[in-house]
Amino acid sequence: MDMKEKIAQIHQLVDNELAQVDSMQALDALRVKVLGKKGELTALLRGMGQLSPEERPQAGQLINEAREALTAQLDARQAKIKARDRQKALMSETIDVTQPVPAPLLGSEHPLTLALNEVVDCFTGMGFEVVEGPEVELDHFNFELLNIPQNHPARDAQDTFYIDDNIVLRTHTSPMQARTMLSRKPPIRIICPGRVYRADEVDATHSPVFHQLEGLVIDEDVTMADLRGTLNAFAERLYGKGITTRFRPSFFPFTEPSAEVDLTCVACHGKGCRVCKGTGWIEVLGCGMVNPKVLEMCGIDSTRYSGFAFGIGLERIAMQRYKVPDMRLLYEGDVRFLSQFK
Ligand code: PHE
Repeated sequence: MDMKEKIAQIHQLVDNELAQVDSMQALDALRVKVLGKKGELTALLRGMGQLSPEERPQAGQLINEAREALTAQLDARQAKIKARDRQKALMSETIDVTQPVPAPLLGSEHPLTLALNEVVDCFTGMGFEVVEGPEVELDHFNFELLNIPQNHPARDAQDTFYIDDNIVLRTHTSPMQARTMLSRKPPIRIICPGRVYRADEVDATHSPVFHQLEGLVIDEDVTMADLRGTLNAFAERLYGKGITTRFRPSFFPFTEPSAEVDLTCVACHGKGCRVCKGTGWIEVLGCGMVNPKVLEMCGIDSTRYSGFAFGIGLERIAMQRYKVPDMRLLYEGDVRFLSQFK
């Protein structure tokens, strides 16, 4: 058989097999079978050694032409298979853009945020300015400047989280009274909302992290009547006309005199419930006239200026406002609870 016939046979073989080829794998296998190292055409090339020197150049040329032709034939087929596979993939991966999509879950403001915004609105409406301060606080501001001396029970390690001997997690927002008096001149009219920390066990009305809103007013001729008037205005703005406040004498080292203020429990309208522990009243804040000793320690002339301060418990307000019976609900992040505030 001469070389031309052998090559014609290989062409025939490729034509026949190509008719069956339907995948890239089958095509690659055919390519190897014909053009690979041990392929049919390569075998012809190897057999050239047996030819006479005169025959070799022509045979070599024929084989090379055949290789080019076969490569082109296989490449053409490969391009077709690729295009077909791609088309298939496109068809199977199409997205129907007209399909309705599931509605994205919308968050809602946390009841504490809602309550905070309301309380802040009440006071900014009366001319108070909002300031903020550090939660990691110096003992000096949290206690010392507030007339809470070294051995005062409020410093007891049971109540206070100490970072070291001089640094605490603030146990109230009152250190902002001292910071503000030291950094501003009267008249001062600020509120300071924020997180505070106490080593309390978690229950329906306690948490080691909770929120307060501090208020401070310093000016000439500020009296206890201004304090009452301000807090009554606040209570009415928050809960509407007719809300009753109750002032009870109390004690804080940084105010003198001091009072605790209760509001009618709006969860039960004074009848007594779980939120108010059956009393009909909710204690929402502590307040008083800033102790002259504190004024002096903070660089304010107590013969010329006087002032009042108050600290509102925000959780109590939120629980009242939204009839939340258990404080833990405010911290658990349960969306079934939270989504009710949309
Ligand atoms: N800091 C006090 C507390 O945490 C509240 C308070 C603030 C009392 C301002 C009087 C004046 O209990």
